[in-house]
Amino acid sequence: MSDEKNIHTTTQAGAPVHSDEHSQSVGADGPLALHDVYLVEKLAQFNREKVPERIVHAKGGGAFGTFTTTADVSQYTRAALFQPGVETEVLARFSTVAGEQGSPDTWRDPRGFALKFYTSEGNYDLVGNNTPVFFIRDGIKFPDFIHSQKRLPGSHLRDHDMQWDFWTLSPETAHQVTWLMGDRGLPASWRMMDGFGSHTYQWINASGEKFWVKYHFKTEQGNEILTQADADRIAGEDADFHIRDLDEAITRGDFPKWKLSVQIMPYADAATYRFNPFDLTKVWPHSDYPLHEVGTLELNRNPENYFAQIEQATFAPSNFVPGIAASPDKMLLARIFSYADAHRYRVGTNHAQLPVNLPKTAVNDYSKDGAARYQFSEATVPVYAPNSVGGPAADPQKAGDDSGWESDGVLVRSAATLHAEDDDFGQAGALYRDVLDEDAKTRLVGNIVGHVSKVTRPDLLLRVLDYWTNVDPELGARVTAGVNPSAPGSNEDPASVGILQ
Ligand code: HEM
Repeated sequence: MSDEKNIHTTTQAGAPVHSDEHSQSVGADGPLALHDVYLVEKLAQFNREKVPERIVHAKGGGAFGTFTTTADVSQYTRAALFQPGVETEVLARFSTVAGEQGSPDTWRDPRGFALKFYTSEGNYDLVGNNTPVFFIRDGIKFPDFIHSQKRLPGSHLRDHDMQWDFWTLSPETAHQVTWLMGDRGLPASWRMMDGFGSHTYQWINASGEKFWVKYHFKTEQGNEILTQADADRIAGEDADFHIRDLDEAITRGDFPKWKLSVQIMPYADAATYRFNPFDLTKVWPHSDYPLHEVGTLELNRNPENYFAQIEQATFAPSNFVPGIAASPDKMLLARIFSYADAHRYRVGTNHAQLPVNLPKTAVNDYSKDGAARYQFSEATVPVYAPNSVGGPAADPQKAGDDSGWESDGVLVRSAATLHAEDDDFGQAGALYRDVLDEDAKTRLVGNIVGHVSKVTRPDLLLRVLDYWTNVDPELGARVTAGVNPSAPGSNEDPASVGILQ
């Protein structure tokens, strides 16, 4: 961009153009000249303005900010960003899961809560949701799960039969579906919802001691929700309600904040805990593992360019830093492959070189070339390792312990069932009975009844009623009373109809 007072239009090669309004033709009404390079360049560039939208979490928005570590958790992790007093620049992106890029922000859905910490040891990405659990516990089911929530192959319509067919044939979904149908499925804004890392991660301290942790970001704006009726109305009035809310809050200086705490499980406890602590369909009760304060996240800077800084942002659960590592959670392990692969396809081989994705630390790797590469080392830096000409060399001390966890056995295809409470419905029932107050229970029943009333197959509806009875007999009875099992699809209550359609 030039500082000149009268800035003139140029081609992408920087040469002055003749007109912003008229293409070149043979006479005023004549055919167009192919050598009108500016016309051709404009149309060709326009055709390439989009990159593929994210296969999930396509609709979203975000902002930059700061994470400040306010407590001392150095006995649990050596990660530089979590040392007392350290401030780290952050990018956050919030999203819905199933809707496409133009879909309303207020459709019932989990909300994505993705963070990129630009730390002094490289980028750390924590790609979570506004719920502490997930629908499935093995990544091999993820494409099927998402297909069932998106659109029918023929009509391209979303379909309640498909959604409930998958959920009821996958009983491990019960805990997350209870969250989804309850208040947390419709947050009033991204500012007014909690965030969770959801998975169990590993923390490693400076002495090499290991711990299992779960991240909780508690909103300081308070958890506020929309009623189904309000969400439906807003979906029609302002599809970008949540993008607008965040943008306007930051513009007026009302910076949203979250307090980060972690639950910490001693490494050895995992083997004997009452359920598999790496099962993403479960929470760890706080009575077993209380919260430890870590720090504060504040968002205070809107993106200057949505496409460059939000659409092209690539968050990957594989981006760890020393002192933070994976756990045996099979969902996490599948995600560690999936995201970086998606980024190479969606944004390109060299997506990590884009300014929004580029670490604030030096990148000294041996990758080279690829489409749209623009960062490169001096010609004297070797492109292979090992070398004897002074190229970068791995430093295990800096990288820290990556020994993971003990693992042994023959190859199997099964879930871990070594723990007394490795069930599907227990925590979903406890959420209904012990966490929700009477009003929240009533809203949950209303939301389920409204949603389930769109199921058309009688056999499926009976399976749905069994599902909720398995969660809790009273909940099952209330849902059964609200729908008419002998005439599925006939009992739609417009005030409570779920919008996940
Ligand atoms: C986005 C795969 C489970 C949260 C994505 C994307 C893929 C993906 C391919 C698009 C990435 C991109 O194009 O940039 C998977 C697979 C999963 C899984 C294979 C299970 C094995 C989860 C879970 C969570 C989650 C359990 C939360 C705890 C997100 C979020 C985004 C996302 C927040 C959007 C990130 C952004 O804002 O760019 N997922 N996902 N996903 N996923 Fe997952």
